[in-house]
Amino acid sequence: MREAQPATIYLKDYEPPAYRIEQTQLHFALHEDYALVTATLSIARTAGAPETQALVLHGQALKLESIQLDGNTLGEGTYVIDEASLTLEAVPGEFELRTVVRIEPQNNTSLEGLYKSRTMFCTQCEAEGFRKITYFLDRPDVMSIYTVTVEADAARYPVLLSNGNCVATEALASGRHSATWHDPFPKPAYLFALVAGDLSVVEDSFTTCSGREVDLKIFVEPKDLDKCDHAMDSLKRSMRWDEETFGREYDLDIFNIVAVDDFNMGAMENKSLNIFNTSCVLASPDTTTDAGYQRVESIVAHEYFHNWSGNRVTCRDWFQLSLKEGFTVFRDAEFSSDMGSRTVKRVEDVTVLRTSQFAEDAGPMAHPVRPDSFIEISNFYTVTVYEKGAEVVRMIHTLLGAESFRRGSDLYFQRHDGQAVTCEDFVLAMEDASGVDLGLFRRWYSQAGTPEVSASGVYDEEAQTYTLTVAQRTPPTPGQTDKQPVVIPLAMGLLGDAGNLPLRLEGELPDTETSDNTHRVLTVDSAEQRFVFTGVNEAPVPSLLRGFSAPVRLDYPYTRKDLQALISHDADGFVRWDASQQLAVQVIMDVQAQLDAGSEPDVDPLLIDSVAAVIADTSLDPAMVAMMVTLPGENYLAELASHTGQADVDGIHAARDSVREALASALSEQWQSLFGRLHSVEPYQASGPEIARRSLCNAALGYLSADSVDGVELALAQYHGANNMTDRLAGLQAVAYFGNDVQRDAALADCFDKWHHEALVVNQWLQLQAMLPLEDALSRVQALMAHDAFDLRNPNKVRAVIGAFASGNPVNFHRRDGAGYRFLREQVAVLDGMNPQIASRLLGPLTKWRNYQGRGDMMRAELEELAAVSGLSPDVFEVVSRSLA
Ligand code: TRP
Ligand code: ZN
Repeated sequence: MREAQPATIYLKDYEPPAYRIEQTQLHFALHEDYALVTATLSIARTAGAPETQALVLHGQALKLESIQLDGNTLGEGTYVIDEASLTLEAVPGEFELRTVVRIEPQNNTSLEGLYKSRTMFCTQCEAEGFRKITYFLDRPDVMSIYTVTVEADAARYPVLLSNGNCVATEALASGRHSATWHDPFPKPAYLFALVAGDLSVVEDSFTTCSGREVDLKIFVEPKDLDKCDHAMDSLKRSMRWDEETFGREYDLDIFNIVAVDDFNMGAMENKSLNIFNTSCVLASPDTTTDAGYQRVESIVAHEYFHNWSGNRVTCRDWFQLSLKEGFTVFRDAEFSSDMGSRTVKRVEDVTVLRTSQFAEDAGPMAHPVRPDSFIEISNFYTVTVYEKGAEVVRMIHTLLGAESFRRGSDLYFQRHDGQAVTCEDFVLAMEDASGVDLGLFRRWYSQAGTPEVSASGVYDEEAQTYTLTVAQRTPPTPGQTDKQPVVIPLAMGLLGDAGNLPLRLEGELPDTETSDNTHRVLTVDSAEQRFVFTGVNEAPVPSLLRGFSAPVRLDYPYTRKDLQALISHDADGFVRWDASQQLAVQVIMDVQAQLDAGSEPDVDPLLIDSVAAVIADTSLDPAMVAMMVTLPGENYLAELASHTGQADVDGIHAARDSVREALASALSEQWQSLFGRLHSVEPYQASGPEIARRSLCNAALGYLSADSVDGVELALAQYHGANNMTDRLAGLQAVAYFGNDVQRDAALADCFDKWHHEALVVNQWLQLQAMLPLEDALSRVQALMAHDAFDLRNPNKVRAVIGAFASGNPVNFHRRDGAGYRFLREQVAVLDGMNPQIASRLLGPLTKWRNYQGRGDMMRAELEELAAVSGLSPDVFEVVSRSLA
């Protein structure tokens, strides 16, 4: 018999809830082999809903022990239970429902609902995990006030936490104790949290702008107590920044963060009880790289910012996920930009967008920022909803200007405080506060796919005009074949020989010129448009999409000389970096064609000159220099290649390596002197200038070790002598990539030997190895999985080994014999029985089967193999079936 397929849910079918749950009282009795959850719910029928309306509560993997309505036990036959719900056919207009359910947190490997991570109990309820804890209306538009009692063994679980304020504690018989928490803010079930464990705490406090004192606590396992300072500082900076930048004050007297080792994502914004993956909260110089420090800062900020964008104003339904995620990513990106370098942060974010989100938009899982259907919502926590969603908010910011945007966000928070709302409500508030019509702009929420913008320019010397023609089209995506033009804010300038030129559009009066008349934001909103600039007295190079002002693919026929001009003296840092990447892409593609034709690679000296000039430009931030001299990644190159045809991963890898070698040897003296100038053994500081210095110094070290055995010796010395993880890992990585087998194996063994007691270091050690482009990479990966340090139940380890191999080791994942694909399929099948969210995410690289030259059939065959597995989770089923459609 054919299995029933999981159902698809549509946005167009949304209906408001027929019942509300005004008060929720929970009692948790936690034991080693089970937990009892007693839920006492005050339920009321919504005004206008028919009296005959059945009450259908969500519930999954629960064992109902008892059920009472207004104190009367309900007999069998008065309710219906299936694997996803509890139905009461007829209920009064207002009543109290009490259920007792038995669950098994110790056996919950999905890390959703109530589960055990090492020594502690914890929860993860977003998006639909609360239904694995008790019967409930588990949807974000049902908001309730929670009072929660947690009861557990006092010796094993001295710390008992939930949302809000602790209102009572009690010592109980047989060595047990309890704590009761009350959260005064109504919230959806996905923001509920509970933690019980033997945890140490770092405490601090914050005085809000209105003078309220907030206790800040970070709870960790005792061994990690020395790794909380950076998160605490980041939290205080976030709280101040949100007051100053968005006028948002914190609203409770406590803010708690708990670090857990087993976690499906980065962190979770549960009201006043954020739960973090240890990898996103712990930091110390010896265990955490600079990138890790920055990740901690931005994720602490992200979760904190959710208190307003997500919690006080939440989502009506899960199709609106980007309402909180896109907006909050925009907010955390602005925060990081204000704390460090705006251009560097922008380049990092655009790289993710172009590498991952553009690929998602071009593949079978393409969906709009506001999806219109899903089978499993966990599959839609994507780069499109998060990062493209943030770009959409950024474009509104650009179109309105900073002041009107702030008025819009103030209006949004004030108008919708305490409500569950939609993306449309957000746009309306922005329109109402600014008077700007965002009518057509709304297409960014409903239309999937990355718009392609092609621009061309004509200079008329006689008329002194420059005409920029801009055309746009969005390619079809699955289920959405007809695309409309979107509203694109195109930030730009014109670059002349001596710098950026003053801009005046035809028909404009001189007095419309603003103070910075060398910079404009053009609004592109139809299929093709022309912009005529007058008074242009030399042939300019257009500087387009400054700051990456819209998430589009821009094509302009730049010559290499044009790119060189932009790199060396455009006013926009993003454009300078982008031009450096475009130049590198062109040169790598040349070399790939030469290698294909069997000829010797011939690297355009213009690239070498341009890199030399960037290194010599002391006016540039060293972090910018580091990014400008780093070649585009293989996944980005593959994404570009598959946009116009199919990617040849081996060809890309070989060409990129050979361009890197050319830069390494042609500029070896420059790398040498850079390294000599920047290398430092001063105590570690995670400050902007120090991070920038290390990034350039380690970029130089990379080139030096690619160039010579002396370079590898230098890397080895840095690995052994480093006083911080950034330099140590950079040294180890250079040795592992460019050293001989003996050097590599010795250094890797030494690293494990010294750091095996630090899980977060071991994860980086695993990940580095999984990504090595060596011939025996797959067997190395299999050996790592057999290593004591590996654990299939821990998502960080799965990501570090299997995830890193499949998405960070292209030449080996795409092995000609298909063994990489088979390996991934087998792992996904095993993981699906344990943790469907992780299994489904790991599948990502296989879904891109149409992109790869000579590999598509093998990749598709593995997806088909998976599709034939019985009992697939809805998560994996959805990804597999969409990929094969
Ligand atoms: N809301 C979280 C964030 O972006 C995301 C999240 C954490 C999540 N854990 C999850 C989403 C588990 C789905 C499943 O900050
Ligand atoms: Zn978030």
